Amino acid sequence: MTLPAKPLVKPFLLLLSLSFLLLLLPLLSHSYRRSFPHSAAAGGGVVTPLLRIRPGYKSYDDYIKHQLNKTLNPRLRRVWATRDWDRKVLVFARFFSDLKSQGLLSNSSRALCIGARLGQEVAALRRVGVADSVGMDLVPAPPLVVAGDFHSQPFPNASFDFEFSNVFDHALYPDRFAAEIERTLRPGGVAILHVALHRRGDKYSTNDLFGVDGVVDLFKQSGLVRVSKVDGFGLDTEVVLRRNKRQRPS
Ligand SMILES: *[C@@H]1O[C@H](CO)[C@@H](O)[C@H](O)[C@H]1NC(C)=O
Ligand SMILES: *[C@@H]1O[C@H](CO)[C@@H](O)[C@H](O)[C@H]1NC(C)=O
Ligand SMILES: *[C@@H]1O[C@H](CO)[C@@H](O)[C@H](O)[C@H]1NC(C)=O
Repeated sequence: MTLPAKPLVKPFLLLLSLSFLLLLLPLLSHSYRRSFPHSAAAGGGVVTPLLRIRPGYKSYDDYIKHQLNKTLNPRLRRVWATRDWDRKVLVFARFFSDLKSQGLLSNSSRALCIGARLGQEVAALRRVGVADSVGMDLVPAPPLVVAGDFHSQPFPNASFDFEFSNVFDHALYPDRFAAEIERTLRPGGVAILHVALHRRGDKYSTNDLFGVDGVVDLFKQSGLVRVSKVDGFGLDTEVVLRRNKRQRPS
C-alpha cells in the first residue's frame, strides 16, 4: 500500500514489448490463440509475450481496493470459513504431505503461505506437522494469517525455508512478487507456485500468464526444480523453485 505511485506501464517498455511481440507473432500466434482466445481483444498492458498485466488500474490504491473487494466480500468469507474450509484443508494437507515425502518441506521448516485468505493452507501445514507456519494476506485473519502485501512483504530477509502461493495472478508487479519471495527465502529455500496456464483467472486476476517461463524468468536468484500439472482449485500448473545458495550479481 505504500508503493510509490508510478505509471503502471512505462510507454517505452510497452513499445519495446510491442515490437518484440510483432517480431514473434508469426511464431507465437498459433499456441497463443489456442491458450488464450481473447488475446486479440485485450489491448494494452503487455509486459512480455508470456505475461500480460491487465490494463485499467488508475493507481496502486485503485488496485488494492479492487483486491480488497474480493477479500472482504462477506458472502465469500462465509463460504471460505464454512463450506470450503474442511475440503481445502484436507486437499492442502495431502499436498504438503507429498512435498514432505519429496524432501521439499519438513516439520522444522519455517513456512509462509502468500495470499492465504483465512488460512486454510496454514491450518493444513500445521496439521501435517509444520508447526512454524504462517499466512499473509492484505486482510489479517488471526491467528493463522498476518497482514501484508506480497509486493512488499513485512518480513526480514531470509525469514523462511518454504513459501507457497496460489495468487500469482493477482500481482500487479510480478517482478516485485518474485523478488520479495527470493528476498525472504533463506538461501536453499523452496518456493512453490500454483498458477493457471490453460485457463483465465477471474475478474480479480491482475495478470495473465501464457507460458510457464513468464513466471520462472522472474526468479533471478533461483533455480527451477520442476514444473508439473496439478489440479489446484482452478490452477493447473505447479512451479517449484529453489533459492540459490549464493547471491547472483544483478
Ligand atoms: C465491491 O464492489 C461492489 C460493486 O462495485 C460494491 O457494491 C461492494 O460494496 C464492494 N464490496 C466491498 C467489500 O468493497
Ligand atoms: C512431523 O509431524 C507429524 C505431525 O505432528 C508427526 O506425525 C511426524 O512424526 C513428524 N515427523 C518427523 C520426521 O518428526
Ligand atoms: C535484503 O535483501 C535485499 C535484496 O536481496 C538486499 O538488497 C538488502 O541489502 C538486504 N538487506 C539486509 C539488511 O541484508
